[in-house]
Amino acid sequence: MEAQFITGTGTDIGKTWLTCALLRHWRTEGRRVAAFKPVLSGFDPRRAEASDAGQLLAALGREASTAELDAIAPWRFAAPLSPDMAAAQEDRDIDFDALVGFTRRSAGADFCTTLVEGVGGVMAPLDARHTVRDWIAASGLPCILVAGSYLGSLSHTLTALEALAKVGAAIKAIVVNETPGSSVELDGMLVSLAHHAGGVPLLAIARDSPQAGVARLAKLLC
Ligand SMILES: Nc1ncnc2c1ncn2[C@@H]1O[C@H](COP(=O)(O)OP(=O)(O)OP(=O)(O)O)[C@@H](O)[C@H]1O
Ligand SMILES: [Mg+2]
Repeated sequence: MEAQFITGTGTDIGKTWLTCALLRHWRTEGRRVAAFKPVLSGFDPRRAEASDAGQLLAALGREASTAELDAIAPWRFAAPLSPDMAAAQEDRDIDFDALVGFTRRSAGADFCTTLVEGVGGVMAPLDARHTVRDWIAASGLPCILVAGSYLGSLSHTLTALEALAKVGAAIKAIVVNETPGSSVELDGMLVSLAHHAGGVPLLAIARDSPQAGVARLAKLLC
C-alpha cells in the first residue's frame, strides 16, 4: 500500500481520530504501520501524550518522548493557530521544501502502511505562499478527505474537493465522520455528496458503530 495523506475540510473534524483508528485496525491484523504529524500547532510539552503526535504514537504503541516526537512531528508550535500564524509567534517559519522532503522520506522509508496527518483543513496556510493542498500536491501522496455531517458540510466538502482538484491531488476517499447532534442524516448526506463528488469513494463513520466504516476504509486502502 502506498502512503496516504489524511486531510480534512477543517480543524477538529476527526483526522487524528481516524488515523489512530486505522493504525489500531491494521496493527490488530499484524501489519507494520507508521504515522507522521509533521506540523503540529497548539503543542504543550507538558501534555505531549494528548497532542496529535502523542495520540499517533500511542496508537503505534510508542512513547511520547522527545525523540519520538522529533521523529514524527518535527515542526511543533505552541500557539493553537494556523501553522503560519503559530510559527510567526515564535519568529520561525516552515521551510516548505524541507517539509515536503521530510514527508516524501517518511512516506517512502519503510515497506509498511504509512499515514501522514496534515494540519487543519486543505487550505490552511503554512506560510505566505503555501497551503496544505500545496504540501499534498508537492508530496505526491494520495489523500483521504475527512468531513463532518453537520449542516453546511456538503458545501465545505465540495469546496475542499475543488481546491484539491485544482492542484491535481489524488483523492482516495471522502470519509464523512458523523458530527454528534447533527440534524443531517448521515446516509442522506452520502447520497447527496455522491451526486457531486465525481466518483470518489465515500465512506461514513457512525458515532455509535464506527468500526464498520473504519474496517471498510482500511480494506479500500490496502
Ligand atoms: N468518530 C469519532 N468518535 C469519537 N470521537 C471522535 C470521532 N471523531 C472525532 N472525535 C473526537 O473529536 C475531537 C476532534 O477530533 P480530532 O482531534 O481527530 O480532529 P482533527 O481533525 O485531527 O483536529 P486538528 O485539526 O486539531 O488536527 C477529538 O476529541 C476526537 O477524539
Ligand atoms: Mg489532528
